[in-house]
Amino acid sequence: MTVLVAGGAGYIGSHVCKMLRERGYDVVVIDNLSHGYKSFTRYGEFVLGDISDENLLDLVFKTYKIDAVMHFCAYIEVGESVVDPNKYYQNNVSNTLTLLNSMLKHDVKYFIFSSTAAVYGMPQRIPIKEDDPKMPINPYGKSKYMVEQILDDFDRAYGLKSIRFRYFNAAGADESLEIGEAHEPETHLIPLILDAALSVRDSIKIFGTDYETKDGTCIRDFVHVNDLADAHIKGLEYLISEKKTDYFNLGSGSGFSVREVIEKVKEVTNVDFKVEEVDRRPGDPAYLIADNTKARKILGWEPKYDLEKIIQTAWNWHKVLRKK
Ligand code: UFG
Repeated sequence: MTVLVAGGAGYIGSHVCKMLRERGYDVVVIDNLSHGYKSFTRYGEFVLGDISDENLLDLVFKTYKIDAVMHFCAYIEVGESVVDPNKYYQNNVSNTLTLLNSMLKHDVKYFIFSSTAAVYGMPQRIPIKEDDPKMPINPYGKSKYMVEQILDDFDRAYGLKSIRFRYFNAAGADESLEIGEAHEPETHLIPLILDAALSVRDSIKIFGTDYETKDGTCIRDFVHVNDLADAHIKGLEYLISEKKTDYFNLGSGSGFSVREVIEKVKEVTNVDFKVEEVDRRPGDPAYLIADNTKARKILGWEPKYDLEKIIQTAWNWHKVLRKK
């Protein structure tokens, strides 16, 4: 079975490619390398190009016998999406439509889509269940929710079966140290703390210490990237056997505060570094914790990495990334 992985040169996409390969799937990556890395594409055939390019997609679907598509190409910076929503709707929605239409044209009917906890906006209860209200508060979250809705319509009208995975806070790296988190610019908490531990940054700033949480800082649900990858393969198997469109939260189900994560990094790395307390970052919900019961029950998914292992694997990779 051959899987086309759009965005397979990126952080989560590359981990999925590696696991697909290990589990016997053939992999074709399409990626424009705007944010991904050529060295991350070692787990399959690599096509350099953009999913907005219909002719290229035609060629890919004609050249390889693609059975399913996994889609990881997206812009992911919430702040930027507020300032430049067009960029987000163009890439995350319009280009996704181009990809979906190419799939229909070539009769490929299985699609796995990277969605986000941002579709819930400011959650009204914790942990968050899949059927809780979807009220995204920024163009990034809206762009992902629009595609989720498009996918319902495409199932009804064209029989295109899809799984939408709503990621919570992806983190960690593969133990091979061949791939890992390397965003440019980096905005995510754990790699930024690791940069402080490596003195790449002077300090880590805590965005807000006056939230109504146990220590005043935001609570997040960190999930290891290989646990996400495992869910994608289980999702693909489910799609093929059940032929049912569905959506799942992917989070560990446990929440840790920003302060706790910083303390855990100090413990794992055995490095002390400066921590600064600054104002809140606009748009951050106090709590984001997944109820992952549905993925456990229906997909048999069982996340294996706890926070310590997530940070340890991220640290191992980060030292390679920063060449320290
Ligand atoms: N944080 C800091 N200092 C930093 C960076 C982050 O205190 O230097 C805090 C943030 O304020 C937040 C927490 O660490 O409370 C986690 O922030 P990240 O940027 O790492 O991740 P988010 O929780 O903002 O992002 C996640 C998903 C996004 C999704 C978003 C929805 O990764 O895909 O939740 O709010 F859009």
